Amino acid sequence: MNISIASDHAGYELKEIIKNYFDMNGINYADFGTNSAESVDYPIYAKKVCASIQTGESDFGILVCGTGIGMCISANKHRDIRAACCHDTYSAKMARLHNDANVITMGSRVIGSGLAIDIIKKFLATDFEGGRHFKRVNMYDSL
Ligand code: RB5
Repeated sequence: MNISIASDHAGYELKEIIKNYFDMNGINYADFGTNSAESVDYPIYAKKVCASIQTGESDFGILVCGTGIGMCISANKHRDIRAACCHDTYSAKMARLHNDANVITMGSRVIGSGLAIDIIKKFLATDFEGGRHFKRVNMYDSL
């Protein structure tokens, strides 16, 4: 499983903590920036992660900003990207099970790093349920 990750300045610190978790657990990832807490525009970083999924370079994306909202809105503008803003493990599970989300966004100003990592674990460990949800996913994919 390949993961792409990016953040803006507000999410930079949490992104680094998530990367540390990946390093400690042998999880492959590509970091698309940003590389400091200097102010940047989050749509640029959302685009980089979405492009890596569109090309097949990555299976899943993780985007962190202050609230998770700007990254989520930005990511969902990209074809074949289904981004979910999740700040609890139940939503992260359901985003995979029912929505086949391929990007998760989170706000570093909303949750702590321990919960963020639990949310990511749940998201990555859950498969799309398919079945009746295929039709609905296809419906929003074709909007
Ligand atoms: C940056 O100040 C902040 O607006 C951004 O990180 C994000 O929360 C936007 O949705």
